[in-house]
Amino acid sequence: MTMHAAVLDSIGSTPRYDSAVPVPTAGPGQVRVKVELAGLNPIDLTMAAGTFPGPLPAAPNVVGREGIGTTDDGRRVYFAGTVAPHGSLAEYTIVEDGPNLIQVTDDLDARHAVAFGIAGMAGWISTVWRGAVTPDDVVLVLGASGVVGQVAVQAARIAGARQVIAAARSEAGLTRALELGADTAVRLADDLDHDGLVAAFRDAVVVGDVTLVIDPLWGAPAAAAIEALGPNGRLVQLGQSAGAELTLRSGWVRQTNTEIRGYTNKLTPREVVVAEYGAMLEAADAGDLELEVEELALADIGLAWERQESSPGVKLVIRP
Ligand SMILES: NC(=O)c1ccc[n+]([C@@H]2O[C@H](COP(=O)([O-])OP(=O)(O)OC[C@H]3O[C@@H](n4cnc5c(N)ncnc54)[C@H](OP(=O)(O)O)[C@@H]3O)[C@@H](O)[C@H]2O)c1
Repeated sequence: MTMHAAVLDSIGSTPRYDSAVPVPTAGPGQVRVKVELAGLNPIDLTMAAGTFPGPLPAAPNVVGREGIGTTDDGRRVYFAGTVAPHGSLAEYTIVEDGPNLIQVTDDLDARHAVAFGIAGMAGWISTVWRGAVTPDDVVLVLGASGVVGQVAVQAARIAGARQVIAAARSEAGLTRALELGADTAVRLADDLDHDGLVAAFRDAVVVGDVTLVIDPLWGAPAAAAIEALGPNGRLVQLGQSAGAELTLRSGWVRQTNTEIRGYTNKLTPREVVVAEYGAMLEAADAGDLELEVEELALADIGLAWERQESSPGVKLVIRP
């Protein structure tokens, strides 16, 4: 039996649509999932390019890490993390029968299930759990135009943060962040040097200091955000869209008791993931949390890849 899938032939190439890939078989401790809708994420691109800072699945492989579907034994599940070489951008995939599976209801909107999966968790859990946002916080969300940043802005607003500052390069992305509940927008303009960016972050604060930074960017914007933090501030580092490195001055951290906390969905305790995923879906159902979703066909994987490379600011999902 064969199926349709997006296949990466070699690290550094772009996946191609293949209509005759063998349907995978589950091994011990694994389940086969018939995929209803899959999500595309920056991690799929960095893994395919070989630039992901972690273990890479060997090529050839089927790309994609997350989706919603039905197991062979009839459970409807959201899953994040597949068993290589079986990715989620396919009619069937293989998942460990464990923490990577979250059972969901039959009436759950598949688009919500995927939109608030990898990207949603990174934006929401980094803010409410790792960042431990409170109503006393002035939260600066870097990359607020991206899907992770849009969720972080809304998580901070829903948690009642005193002020939510959205920072991004794109004007359209900043307009959307304000619509989603940010109080203030800061443009990461090309002509702002480090000192200009620090001043822009500080000037954006209405009362007090920036106390919490949610950072999917690293690079120059994160360096400026660290310097802009007030005493006992914290920065949650979860991505590197602006660069894998930055120059960090000791004084920016030492003089202010600044704390830099790493965040990865992978190391978040399962009970936190399940509870916060549920909280996100509830908020989305109530119309309090939103993320624009764009659906593409599996046969259009080349186009989907290009869209994701361009930081589209919408959650891309693929229907196999
Ligand atoms: N730690 C985790 O568990 C986890 C989970 C999911 C995602 N992530 C990471 O989080 C990051 C964001 O993911 P996403 O899904 O939100 O991606 P996305 O929707 O593609 O958004 C990318 C964001 O990065 C910004 N950006 C890209 N290049 C930039 C640059 N050179 N300088 C400044 N800003 C730049 C974009 O800004 P403009 O729109 O303004 O151009 C946009 O805000 C990625 O690095 C991803 O790998 C981490």
